[in-house]
Amino acid sequence: MAGLDEVKAFLGCATPAAWLARAPENLDILLIDHAHCEKKAASTALNLLFRYVDKRNLLSSMSQLAREELLHFEQVVEMMERHGVQYGHLSPSRYAQGLRQHIRPTEPDKLVDTLIIGAFIEARSCERFDALAPLLQANPSTADIGKYYIFLLKSESRHYEGYLALAREYSPVHIENRIAFFREVERELIETPDTDFRFHSGVPQA
Ligand SMILES: [Fe+2]
Ligand SMILES: [Fe+2]
Repeated sequence: MAGLDEVKAFLGCATPAAWLARAPENLDILLIDHAHCEKKAASTALNLLFRYVDKRNLLSSMSQLAREELLHFEQVVEMMERHGVQYGHLSPSRYAQGLRQHIRPTEPDKLVDTLIIGAFIEARSCERFDALAPLLQANPSTADIGKYYIFLLKSESRHYEGYLALAREYSPVHIENRIAFFREVERELIETPDTDFRFHSGVPQA
């Protein structure tokens, strides 16, 4: 399994201190957004299952992923209930769309880009859970959430690895240049000022 060091090396930057500083006061938003992200992750995996029926490894990997992400969704909803957070609608952050707008329109590029983006989203989630966990564990009232994040970051590093392996398998050419391109796009989304505070948002505006 990919270790945390490998995940951090894959990303173009660490989570900014300014984002982390704002996280504890925005825990409600983070949990609600997190629940939405788990649902979205399952839905992305299902979409790939429908679109690429001829790709055997993708089918088994995405089917398993969809189930796992839905299980996470149920766990996050339970966590919200334990902490008295009401589940509701929330606009998504700019993050996923900021990455997806660069997906090339023709195959197999479209699939390869989608898989590389999947790897970045999973890697960033893993890095962020790792950064948040000690902050949350330091406070007795949120320690259980920090503990849950430690558990989750292990699945996220596995998901990162799975997406990357599929991207390499289905690309006819080396994908290093494409990874470097998305690394830069992702870094910018994380390191530039962002109007909304969300799980994958950029630097909070003062
Ligand atoms: Fe998940
Ligand atoms: Fe995941």
